[in-house]
Amino acid sequence: KNAEFRQLWSEAAVVRTLPVRKRSSHKGTYGKGLVIGGSRNMTGAVIMTAKAALRSGAGLLTMAVPDDVYPVAATHIPEVMYHPCSSLNGCFAGEIDLITLDVDAIAAGPGMGRTMGAKSVVQKVLCKDVPVVLDADALYFWKDYVSIVRQRTKATILTPHPGEMARMLGVSIDDVERDRFGIAKQFAMSNGVYLVLKGPYTIVTTPDGKQYVNTSGNPALAKGGSGDVLTGIILAFIMQHDNIQEAICNAVFVHGKAADALVEKEHSPMDVLATDVIEAIPQTLFSLY
Ligand code: APR
Ligand code: MG
Repeated sequence: KNAEFRQLWSEAAVVRTLPVRKRSSHKGTYGKGLVIGGSRNMTGAVIMTAKAALRSGAGLLTMAVPDDVYPVAATHIPEVMYHPCSSLNGCFAGEIDLITLDVDAIAAGPGMGRTMGAKSVVQKVLCKDVPVVLDADALYFWKDYVSIVRQRTKATILTPHPGEMARMLGVSIDDVERDRFGIAKQFAMSNGVYLVLKGPYTIVTTPDGKQYVNTSGNPALAKGGSGDVLTGIILAFIMQHDNIQEAICNAVFVHGKAADALVEKEHSPMDVLATDVIEAIPQTLFSLY
């Protein structure tokens, strides 16, 4: 049995491990990312994920959204490319052509809804041999994904909040909160995934059971959309760093630190929006580089 490995992921660890951009680089060096999500009733989440990924250094970004959502998304982010997908009642119908799409990593889930079409999209995503981040609604049908996830060779990263974690395990939120370390470790090791169990002091657990506790963040993040922003930062960072654990821990830290920077000046913890957190990523990265 493994010895316990738990460590705080501090600012010093981030500064030590942030990747450096080489002069000889080009956009392809920093990854071609794909963000999948959105539905007619939830158009903003996936837009925030994509913006956060761009602010966090993604080289090239494509958004796959149901075609109903496409006009809204397209007016919000000029920097992104689109992969519109057929829609059914405002949600993904289930078709997505990932075979011809050249991508280095995928994040799926924000605002995609809990429909059979969304489930079918996530199953196709998991069959693509690139690192995958699953968040929010992409965690809803977890039990139907377990067998595919266990066969994957590239990293699978799951980012549940305690409510999502509880649902995935079929236990209560209290059960999760009572033993966050134990539950996270058991889950990550048995499924071979990187687990980001969110909340104050987010815990990142690797597939081999090592655990890292985040040291940044504050209750300004307790507002709809914060998680969607984190997903975008994680996507961008895993494409720019070959150590997945460091990339995830750094993403979680930068997300929290961006919120900390806002409440250190100009903002109260009440008035911070998720989009403010995205716009605080530049100053945060500036302070760390
Ligand atoms: N202190 C520090 N960090 C916090 C705090 C806090 N008090 N509260 C929240 N956070 C951070 C979490 O660690 C996490 O990174 O904010 C983020 C919140 O993420 P989510 O819980 O996913 O919140 P949100 O983006 O609003 O997502 C909610 O997504 O999970 C689905 O269906 C769910 O519609 C809901 C939506
Ligand atoms: Mg969320």
